[in-house]
Amino acid sequence: MVEIFNPKTAVSAGLTEFAPDSTAAGELVFFHASQGKPLATPWQVALARSNLLKQLSLPEGYILDCACGSGIQLGAHMALLQRPGIGVELDRMRAQASAVNLQSIAMYRNEMDTDRMQKTRIIAGDGRDGATVCAAIADHLELEQFPNIALLHLDPARPRNSRTHGLEEMEPRLDEVFKGWAPYLTEGENGPALLLDLSPRLTHDQRLEVETMVDAVWKGIQRTWVWTSRGRGRVDRLALWLGGAATAGVARRFVRIPPAITEEAHVVSGGMRIHSGDGLPTPVQSPPRRGERVSILDAALVESGLADEWVKTVTKSERISWSVVEGRRPQIHHQHPLRLEDSMDRMLVQATGRVVALARIKLDLDTVDQLVELVLEHDISKMTVRVPLAPDVQPKIQGAIDRQLARRHGRREAFVVQQPGDEMLLICIAE
Ligand SMILES: C[S@@+](CC[C@H](N)C(=O)[O-])C[C@H]1O[C@@H](n2cnc3c(N)ncnc32)[C@H](O)[C@@H]1O
Repeated sequence: MVEIFNPKTAVSAGLTEFAPDSTAAGELVFFHASQGKPLATPWQVALARSNLLKQLSLPEGYILDCACGSGIQLGAHMALLQRPGIGVELDRMRAQASAVNLQSIAMYRNEMDTDRMQKTRIIAGDGRDGATVCAAIADHLELEQFPNIALLHLDPARPRNSRTHGLEEMEPRLDEVFKGWAPYLTEGENGPALLLDLSPRLTHDQRLEVETMVDAVWKGIQRTWVWTSRGRGRVDRLALWLGGAATAGVARRFVRIPPAITEEAHVVSGGMRIHSGDGLPTPVQSPPRRGERVSILDAALVESGLADEWVKTVTKSERISWSVVEGRRPQIHHQHPLRLEDSMDRMLVQATGRVVALARIKLDLDTVDQLVELVLEHDISKMTVRVPLAPDVQPKIQGAIDRQLARRHGRREAFVVQQPGDEMLLICIAE
């Protein structure tokens, strides 16, 4: 026997962990349990995802989240797709928290009396066991047959405090969930629809391993890998959308969540299947020249393997050379300014400008004066240091530059980057 919570009647008694969701402008307070808050999907990220799902045509039926945690992603899917939900959570208190959170989301959206809320349930149990979950729901809701599952969402827990981890450490494990649910998922013309929310730290080889597990159950099923970033060049989520949830011909997608919840996410789609490689551009070392352009792009976009495709959309057909591909400041060199009229495109560029001076200076506190002398020849009022430096040294150098330039009368904004593998500094006027 599994325990079943009805979100319409759930109460928060006994739940002590709760917090307003920081991405929901303080309007939604979510309950968590067993220190589940760090595991929960931020409301804005959950909504952006559900919004993309909304554009697909899923078969009729339930949204199933078989490791639903605090139920936030499930709640977002249910709200935007207007579907009933089934959440399964091993931790009983978290299952209760999920039910209360679904109730809060429905109240916030004035949807408590909908038919889909009537049919929604959270089960405290094992999310790998499709047979037991389906039988329990059918019995509890007095259905004549097992519920139709339109989409399986899975966001497994990963070991905490660990930068890397093996696929077998995910809880629940992907292969076990696939096996336990394959017979119970509704299949459309592209097979069942699944959304696997994976760790952004999976290596390329681990991604290939995930595909092998998928193929072992649904051979050749359509797939789209999705990298999501909330900015600062970090990939926050890496997901694999499968079958009815994947988009034909789109092997990769980069989703940049904008700063305000009211703005739509910026989406870049395309790319090569991951079997063809990680999609990172090939770096070339060519000597920097005055007059050429240097741009530092969003590191998360580059990590998604879609940077080359995106660059084509903001440049005239010209040759781009990649001088830095990995790390926080991927850097390209090009002849003409980038076409960044669209504010969404602007968000994917950390800095762009024209090289006005080259200086072979090893940048440290002793050489700052020498650099400032040179900068002043170019009418510069402010210059951002975008050179790899030790974290304790960087603010000191930036502070010294700011102080010295503040006393002068330059008019232009600039940034300084370093030629990789070289001490050469490139001073660029921002464009
Ligand atoms: C990363 S959290 C999910 C967070 C969720 N997406 C949200 O928005 O709140 C993963 C959850 O899986 C649960 N879990 C682990 N093994 C499970 C299993 N076999 N069955 C069901 N839930 C499981 C963990 O207790 C944890 O709460």
